[in-house]
Parts: sequence; structure tokens; C-alpha cells
Amino acid sequence: MSLKHEVEKRRTFGIISHPDAGKTTLTEKLLLFGGAIQMAGAVKARKATRHATSDWMKIEQERGISVASSVMKFNYRDFEINLLDTPGHQDFSEDTYRVLTAVDSAMMVIDSGNGVEPQTEKLMEVCRMRNTPIVTFINKLDREGLEPLDILTEIEEKLQIECAPLSWPIGMGKAFKGVYSLYKKELQLFKAGADSNHFETVKITDLNDSKLDELLGTQAAELREEIELLEGAANPFDLDHFLKGNQTPVFFGSAINNFGVKELLDAFVELAPAPGPRKAEERTVAPDEKGFSAFAFKIQANMDPAHRDRIAFFRICSGKFTKGMSVRHHRLGKDVKLANATVFMAQDRAHIDEAYAGDIIGIHNHGTIRIGDTFTTKEALKFTGVPNFAPEMFRRIRLKDPMKRKQLHKGLIQLSEEGAVQVFRTLLGGDYILGAVGVLQFDVTVERLKTEYKVEADYTATDFQTARWIESDDEKKLAEFKRLFEHSLAEDADGYLTYMAPSVWKLNYTIEQWPDILFHKTREQV
Ligand code: G4P
Repeated sequence: MSLKHEVEKRRTFGIISHPDAGKTTLTEKLLLFGGAIQMAGAVKARKATRHATSDWMKIEQERGISVASSVMKFNYRDFEINLLDTPGHQDFSEDTYRVLTAVDSAMMVIDSGNGVEPQTEKLMEVCRMRNTPIVTFINKLDREGLEPLDILTEIEEKLQIECAPLSWPIGMGKAFKGVYSLYKKELQLFKAGADSNHFETVKITDLNDSKLDELLGTQAAELREEIELLEGAANPFDLDHFLKGNQTPVFFGSAINNFGVKELLDAFVELAPAPGPRKAEERTVAPDEKGFSAFAFKIQANMDPAHRDRIAFFRICSGKFTKGMSVRHHRLGKDVKLANATVFMAQDRAHIDEAYAGDIIGIHNHGTIRIGDTFTTKEALKFTGVPNFAPEMFRRIRLKDPMKRKQLHKGLIQLSEEGAVQVFRTLLGGDYILGAVGVLQFDVTVERLKTEYKVEADYTATDFQTARWIESDDEKKLAEFKRLFEHSLAEDADGYLTYMAPSVWKLNYTIEQWPDILFHKTREQV
């Protein structure tokens, strides 16, 4: 099969949502359709155990499963799908953001009762960096929720993306009758307790068809009215707008009842893009180029902490991966053999012989791979767009045994290279400040310092709430800024100057006051 064909049949995506919107439930239904799991409850069970604790050793025990479930590969129709997990509850972290730099599209799940929630807003911001196309699923229509039109307005306003409904719900909660697909011109009738193989689907090409009245009673008139309103007010779906990330097609359903999920998946594989070109510092790389190229976007420490064994997740950008192939590790300027690459299934992992653009492979290593590293067959390339994200939480680290300063430094640098946490040293005093976007990372870091580096440490609070990397062409202004803000400045692990602010308000105020200084929310890996 040609490279082009392999690329075209792949879909690589992540789900963005706020906790409890139904991501796990929807994932499970998608995997059932793909035949990747046989039984409902499998993903759910995993989530329950993952939730139960933030204790690191327990997390370790769970790891065998959680590594495998970071990427879920399944087939649906003629498509090969890579669904990348975006950790969302206590395990929300920078990884969640970074996973989104490795996908070609995203599915956004919104709880119809809550509308747009904060975590979705944050994740959407990351999607916007690369104009990632987004398909929206409004979930839990079997419950009373917000009016569908109000949800669309909220999405448009809060997320700054145009909505194009491709399905429309008929009632909600107890009065939920089903959805009318504007995409397929058919009516799907909801029956509580049924599953997707037993929902009745009726072709209705003309909304004035009297069949509609027979099936929906008085709700038929409401549907007609709403669709008419939509036709006047809503935006028609425009594939090009969607692919540019300016418009999102919207579907309605109930994940737990498996209602509307198949329609979502069908439209998704048809509309969402195959792996596309990827920017490197030197040039843009096309997915069907012959030469293999990939970058590491996630690193996960392995079960056995004594060996510092890690799995680096590579997103393949072009060419073909074959088992045992040699590739150049450009940051180190060394050739490495990719002997035992792993592909991840829903509940399992398997060694693979070949993979293509869009696929995710796991490579075992002993700390030689960092996030953002590029690998190619020959050509010197450095992919961009896999940045560090400004932390949102901070802790000052306190070493219990001052003689262990060196080990602490080494441990923190290595953990930051894995992307587990970001490390800053204050310009005044040289204290270590850890920054993260999810609170669990702090627990994980002290626990790993103890078990892997034999360093006992704990935390004290800081006054910081937000940070930005700063730079300026105006050296005088930068020097003045450094003098005035020396208590709030630090260098990150790669020596980049960082401003830490006690509040978002103070940050915005400072940005306003210092127009010659650039404040960056992300920083590209070196
Ligand atoms: P998450 O991964 O986004 O955090 O959400 P998850 O799928 O775990 O769903 C969160 C809760 O919402 C779960 O209830 C789940 O059963 C429920 N849910 C998901 N989809 C639907 C839906 O379409 N309709 C309704 N009514 N509920 C839905 P829970 O009580 O927290 O867990 P459980 O006891 O049901 O497992």
C-alpha cells in the first residue's frame, strides 16, 4: 500500500473536556465500536482505580495499565484511529496540554447541564495554537440541561469558535425523543435503556413529512421551528472553516446510552483530517515523504524506578517506521536503533513491525530522550510546536538534608526533562521553585526524588500564581526590569528568564506597563 494511502486512512485525535463531562464514557463507547474492547466498563474501571489515590506507589502499580491506555489504537470502517488520552482529573498536567500538540484533531465533549467549563477553555487555548480542527459532542441530553441554542452561543462566545450544528436534539431529559441529523437527513429515536444497535432510525428528507408528526407528536412542530430558526441563524457547515479551526461541527447525544455516538464517530472519520504537514525549524515536512521523521511529546517513567527505564512517546510525522530501524537523534547527534517500539492498544500493548505518520510509538530508553527531541532517517530537522507551558501552580522546594543538594539538582533536572514538572531557580537566593499545571505533579516529584534519587524534600508555599518567559531586544529596559523585579525572577532548567507573578491581575498590569518586554506563555524546547 502506498505511503499516501496509509496516511489518508489515519485519524489521530484527543478528547478535550472538563472532568465529568463524559470523556471516559464516550471513550469507552468509541472503543466498543472499534472492537478494541469487548465489554463496557473496562475504561471506567481503570479510571476508578486511577482516581482512588494520589499516592505515588499506587500510581506506579497502575502504570502498566495507564501507559498502555495513554494511546488507544483501534480500527473503525477503513480507518486506523489513534485516540490519545488527555489526563483530566487529578492527573491533569502539562502532558495533557502536550498531547494536544501531537494530534491532528480533537473531539470536545460538553456537559449539556454545565455548558463550557474552565478546563475545556484551557485545552481549547492549546488547540488554537495550531488551529486544530474540533468536533463537538454535547452530552447528557437524557438529562435536563441548558437550551441547545444557549450552549451554542456560550461555545461561540467563550471559546471563540463558530458552531455549525450537524444534529439537533428533540427535547431533553424525560422529554428527550432523539436527534435529527442535518448531516444525514435522518431522525434517530431515543429509547432509554436501549443501545446503539437498537435505536430506530428513520430517513426524513423533508421536515414537512407527516411521519414526523406520527413519531414525535407535538414535538414535531417544535423541531420544525427550531430547524427553521437554525437555518436562518446558524452557520452552515463549511469543511474548510472546520479544517482551519474556525468552525466546529456540533453533535448532540447521550454517551452513557450510546446514543448519537456512532453518528459522531461516522462524521468524525469522514470530516476530521488525516495527518497533515508538520513544521520544523528548517522546513515543513509532508506526511507522505519517504524519509522517516518523528518527535517525542511525552515521557513516562516505567515500572522499575531502579533502572530509570522510561518510555518516550513518538508521534510519527512522515515516512514509515520499521522495526529495528536506525534513526538519528539530532539533539545528541547520534544514531539510535529503534529496536522494541511498542504500539498501544486499549488494554494492552504489542510490539509492532511498522507504523506511519499519525501513529504513536513508544520507545524504551534510559533517560536519553527529552520532550521535543526530533528523530529522522538522515536529514537534520527540529520539529517545533511542542513547547513548555507556563505553570499555573508553584511550590518552593525544601531539602531536608543540605548535603544532598547535588542529587537534588540532578533529580530535578532529569524530572524536568521528562516533562513531569518544571524547575526554576530564583535569581535571588537560588531557591528551587517547582512549577506545574496540575497539583498531582508535586506529590509525584517528591516521591520520585525519594525513591529514585534518594533525596528527602518537601515543599513550602510560594506567593506565585502565574509565570511568563520574558525577553526583550531592548537590553536597557530588560536590565531595568530585572532590577525592579528581582524578587520575582527565576531561570528555568534551560536558563530562560522567567517572571513569576502573585496574581493574573498583577501579571496583566505588568505586561501593560512594560510594552518593550515580551511575555511568553509557552517556550519552545531547545
Ligand atoms: P469524565 O471522563 O469526563 O470525567 O466523565 P465520565 O465519563 O466519567 O462521566 C462522568 C459522569 O457522568 C458519570 O457518572 C457518568 O456515568 C455520567 N455520564 C456520562 N455520560 C452521560 C450521559 O450521557 N448521560 C448521563 N445522564 N450521565 C452521563 P458518575 O455518577 O460520576 O459515575 P458512574 O457512577 O455513573 O460511573
